[in-house]
Amino acid sequence: MKEKIGLFWGSDTGTTEVIVNQLVEALSEKYEVVLQDMYKVKNEDFDKYSKMVFALSTWYDGDLQSDWDVYFESFCTLDFSGKTIAICGPGDQYGYGEFFCDGIGIIGQQVLNTGGRLVGEWSTEGYDYDESKAELKPGIFCGLPLDEDNQSDMTKHRLEKWTAQILNEFENELEPQS
Ligand SMILES: Cc1cc2nc3c(=O)[nH]c(=O)nc-3n(C[C@H](O)[C@H](O)[C@H](O)COP(=O)(O)O)c2cc1C
Repeated sequence: MKEKIGLFWGSDTGTTEVIVNQLVEALSEKYEVVLQDMYKVKNEDFDKYSKMVFALSTWYDGDLQSDWDVYFESFCTLDFSGKTIAICGPGDQYGYGEFFCDGIGIIGQQVLNTGGRLVGEWSTEGYDYDESKAELKPGIFCGLPLDEDNQSDMTKHRLEKWTAQILNEFENELEPQS
């Protein structure tokens, strides 16, 4: 029987939802992927998995996607120690270059603050933005930023490469690449 992995997601205009569908397909090779819509999520849902993927976009100058935003106060009461988490999501590096995919960084930092392990770190090479809270270490995003507004041609390749990376990091319990 495959291990369950929770894929927690929120999307305002459907872009993250499309990405999530691609993720489900790729992750299903090794895991039973359970979708958790942030609109309906409860604290107990996070207890069900030791491995999770979080997917969210960023809105309004660095704010979390609306469902994540509404839930964020509760999210900050969760303890992620012993959990392994990968984060991804879309943003707009040209239109919102001072806040590019900040949501990934806000959620990633909170996971780390409570002892969680992040996998799926990603180089900032190939992106063009001014500032991003997702860049927790210089030159390294703490998850995978995608940009359907400006670099949609790169999404498929980025997602395939990142998914292979997180599958490996989830399986092997390796330290994230940096
Ligand atoms: C009003 C508005 C504000 C936005 N603010 C940001 C932002 O601060 N940072 C960012 O990276 N992208 C920002 N974006 C881009 C969205 O995150 C992007 O279009 C994303 O693909 C939306 O995904 P969703 O449909 O799954 O919510 C913004 C877009 C709009 C229309």
